[in-house]
Amino acid sequence: MIDLQADADPGDDPWELVADWLPADDDADRPQAVLSTTGADGYPNARTVLVSAVDRSGFAFHTHRSSRKVAELDVLPRAALVLSWPGSTRQLVVRGDVVPDADASAARVWAARSDHLRRLAWLNDDDLAARDRAGRVAAWAADVPTDAGSPPAPSWVGFRVAPVELTFWAGGADTASRRLQFRRDGSGWARRWLAG
Ligand SMILES: Cc1cc2nc3c(=O)[nH]c(=O)nc-3n(C[C@H](O)[C@H](O)[C@H](O)COP(=O)(O)O)c2cc1C
Repeated sequence: MIDLQADADPGDDPWELVADWLPADDDADRPQAVLSTTGADGYPNARTVLVSAVDRSGFAFHTHRSSRKVAELDVLPRAALVLSWPGSTRQLVVRGDVVPDADASAARVWAARSDHLRRLAWLNDDDLAARDRAGRVAAWAADVPTDAGSPPAPSWVGFRVAPVELTFWAGGADTASRRLQFRRDGSGWARRWLAG
């Protein structure tokens, strides 16, 4: 694990740090991130999502087509993601442009999701949420295709946050926390150290 409190130079490529800090795409245990968008009323909005996949094109998440975040991104396709690790050891803040994820990636992520999460994609809507408990349990038993080989539910949609800025934060036990920030600079990145 690249330690941003060590003296070794972490390099000029933020994606090497991303690959070092985040699990590979085939790891079923997906990291959580707080996804922030801009609400229609101008207030920031935020919610937790699973980071479904990561490559140099960005950080993918998948969601319901008719969710509020999708409507917000339709108006302003920019977002921030905050990933944090237990014990206040590390944090990664990503700010960027949001683009649709490739269909092939969406199908891969669908296949890797649990049966429970695939069922959720089929059934989770406001009508179900408003029912009483017995109604919600009964609706949950609906016959929907949830096996890994099934095509994604029509509600299922993926996006990628393509970063313009990545800020890696490292906690410190015997010294101050500090951050390494990469800002997009032409086809490369400008790098600077910041107070934590
Ligand atoms: C740990 C955790 C992981 C979640 N992962 C996702 C996810 O990957 N995609 C998603 O749409 N919602 C996910 N949710 C639910 C969202 O936080 C949110 O409630 C939902 O997407 C509706 O958000 P919106 O109305 O702002 O669009 C997750 C919630 C939690 C607590």
